[in-house]
Amino acid sequence: MEQELLKLKQEAEEALAHVAGTDQLEAFRVKFLGRKGGLLTGILRQLGQVAPEDRPRLGQMANDIKLSLETSFDDRKALLSATVGEGVGGTDYSLPGRYLPFGKLHPVTQVMEEICSIFEGLGFAVAEGPDVETDHYNFEALNIPKHHPARDMHDTFYVTDSTLLRTHTSPMQARIMERQDPPLRYVVPGKVYRCDSDITHTPMFHQVEGLLVDRQVSFADLKGVLTSFTHKIFERELPLRFRPSYFPFTEPSAEVDVACVICGGNGCRVCKRTGWLEILGSGLIDPEVLKMVGYDPDTYSGFAFGLGVERIAMLKYGIDDIRMYYENDLRFLCQF
Ligand code: FA5
Repeated sequence: MEQELLKLKQEAEEALAHVAGTDQLEAFRVKFLGRKGGLLTGILRQLGQVAPEDRPRLGQMANDIKLSLETSFDDRKALLSATVGEGVGGTDYSLPGRYLPFGKLHPVTQVMEEICSIFEGLGFAVAEGPDVETDHYNFEALNIPKHHPARDMHDTFYVTDSTLLRTHTSPMQARIMERQDPPLRYVVPGKVYRCDSDITHTPMFHQVEGLLVDRQVSFADLKGVLTSFTHKIFERELPLRFRPSYFPFTEPSAEVDVACVICGGNGCRVCKRTGWLEILGSGLIDPEVLKMVGYDPDTYSGFAFGLGVERIAMLKYGIDDIRMYYENDLRFLCQF
């Protein structure tokens, strides 16, 4: 019996060392320590048959082995529950965590936020308006009546006869001026829509409108604000060009071009070989527009501008095709 006990002890200890989970641990307990049919219990039952003089010694030995195996069993159980979550579905907390990819802001959103924060630094507040706009705010309130040829400049997506997807952020000019008296300074970021698509145009793009109304606002103020803005957004003093233009809601009007960063002003397919890329339209607010919202144009004047966010993002990051921003290729988008 002594040999049997020692063999059992060795076998049990080896088995316990290989127990890897709660199920195996339970199987170990039943096999070696179980009250009914357990191997140790089986040996203990035979104690009555050994010579009476050997009984105390073997009884003591069997009890020591039982105690030692129970202690080892408890230790193993404690170790397993520290690494294998007991009672919570067998979760192994020692495994490395699962990688959860986390999202980032789209590069166009990042640039739009940067544009707004530069203007906030110049004292402008941020406002937002609806994407589905009325014909009145998108055109009429901007001095573009029905059948005005300027409507052709915008290839408009109509929703109904009197509502449309806004073609620019300028409708917010009248919306803001109607609800507030001067002085005011706002920027309005948002999506705009036009039936237009090539390497510098997409059917949905982003603009940031700027609007400032006060007493004695001049074109010099507009130039100063836009020059300061472009130097900040491109983090260097890129050459700027104010080109006379026409918008029915500003007079005089100018489009602003920056030297093409893709070709260094030498001419490429993005700047259509001109060396310049248009980034915004601007001008002094037409007195007719001020009158329509109830402002006295003899007392107040102002300027407005509409920036193309994707154009600025293209220049800032040297991207030569605007459509890359909307192909949703994560290998491209994750670089920003
Ligand atoms: C306008 O949208 C005027 N509302 C801007 C304005 C505001 C003028 C206030 C005066 C006062 P324009 O259509 O030129 O102007 O668009 C402004 C800028 O948006 C352009 O300079 C260009 O950078 C960008 N843009 C125009 N069309 C697209 C297009 N399809 N895709 C991407 N960017 C475009």
